[in-house]
Amino acid sequence: MARPLTLHVCSDCGHSEPRWMGQCPGCRAWNTLVEERPATAVVRGVAGGGRRGSAAGPVGAVQRLGDVESVRVARLQTRIGELDRVLGGGLVPGSLVLLGGSPGIGKSTLTNMVLGHLAAGGHRTLYVSGEESAAQIRLRAERLVTAGPEHPCHALDVPVLAETDLDTVLATLVAERPDVCVIDSVQTLHAAELTGAPGSVGQVREVASRIMGVAKGQGTAVLLVGHVTKEGALAGPRVLEHLVDCVLQFEGERERTYRTLRALKNRFGSTNETGVFEMAEGGLVEVLDASARFVGEATRKPGSVVLAAMEGTRPLLVEVQALVSPSEIVPPRRVCNGIDRNRLALVLAVLGRHAGVGTGTADVFVNVVGGVRVDEPGADLAVALAVASAARGVPAGGEDAKLPLACFGEVGLTGELRSVGHADRRVEEAAKFGLTPVVAPENAPTLRHALRAAFGAAQGAAPARAA
Ligand code: TYD
Ligand code: MG
Repeated sequence: MARPLTLHVCSDCGHSEPRWMGQCPGCRAWNTLVEERPATAVVRGVAGGGRRGSAAGPVGAVQRLGDVESVRVARLQTRIGELDRVLGGGLVPGSLVLLGGSPGIGKSTLTNMVLGHLAAGGHRTLYVSGEESAAQIRLRAERLVTAGPEHPCHALDVPVLAETDLDTVLATLVAERPDVCVIDSVQTLHAAELTGAPGSVGQVREVASRIMGVAKGQGTAVLLVGHVTKEGALAGPRVLEHLVDCVLQFEGERERTYRTLRALKNRFGSTNETGVFEMAEGGLVEVLDASARFVGEATRKPGSVVLAAMEGTRPLLVEVQALVSPSEIVPPRRVCNGIDRNRLALVLAVLGRHAGVGTGTADVFVNVVGGVRVDEPGADLAVALAVASAARGVPAGGEDAKLPLACFGEVGLTGELRSVGHADRRVEEAAKFGLTPVVAPENAPTLRHALRAAFGAAQGAAPARAA
């Protein structure tokens, strides 16, 4: 019988089988077998030959770090300011960037625009699509040409290849030698050597590593588009996160217009930056003054406060809303959008235990408006004040305040407020929109103090004894 061309290797214990099995016979784990090409003789040949060395193999050249030649690479400016900032100043030639996001969020639109801008700047580009036909891609590109007059987007000048076969894509990549190439998406390409379906872990890993091999060799920067699953994980390509230089996540809700772009990993820059976009007719538009939008749209109704958040190095004001209503089920519902569920549970517990705002038998819903996600402890106080305001039916800042109330701060388990980074920049940003004073750990040492500042002495909970 012929030797199988591929092996199925358990990702937990390393056991290998010639055929795929649901359960690994080695460690009994389910769904862990991943198809791989067996290591070829070429690899072993290299290890065996080479320069003089011991039986273990050739000796590698070791260098003092200070003697290693430092390289200053000129980055490719995509002319999409928000994207360049998230990347750390533009695309690094030869780098591999994974762009993840759920279907319909705008990954193809963003990558089309990137190539259009680069083409306008005289760079060689290539758009490989395994999802859409060339005619479909043209339809989208036609909408983008009108994008912005100051940064022209020559989306129609971008060469496209509608193809799913990996070998063809690699050969084209070598022939075209683009400066930047988009693969849309990594889950649709198919390596003929592997029997697994496109999008399976083995396929995705093989596709990405072979594209990387070719791209790094010729200095092509590659943007790999990847779909994410419902749970928010990059489908299959968890393995890719180690391989690529940069992982970007495109988030937001399809029905809303705001989209945020953030770096989850970046070998060439910080992972703190976030870009905000709006999906409009004519493509994605950068939202340069996101705070102004969110504050302008904020309501003065009970249950709403403005959080002075930090998105990386940039302050951002976002509206946090809460709804508290009697529950008909046990345990009551705790639903949140844009903040961590466990943080909500913690804030509700502290509110009940240390600030006299009980929500034990009520459903609590918390939402960060505009589909924005805030992943920082500084959001705690905004959640607490929004919930307190909703529970009491009183607007934060008082009945006759014209502007929403701004706040930030971490809520500690004993009811104290803890400082968070960049307090002055947050206060400054709020002041730009006339939101003063800001309720913060600096002027409210405990949650009770914050409640009093937000609702006045009459509405505030009974003060703590020492205060
Ligand atoms: P798309 O980039 O195809 O999403 P993805 O590749 O992430 O699946 O586009 C998503 C949506 O954006 C699509 O429903 C149409 C809409 N859209 C606009 O609103 N304006 C535009 O100019 C373009 C090109 C798309
Ligand atoms: Mg797409």
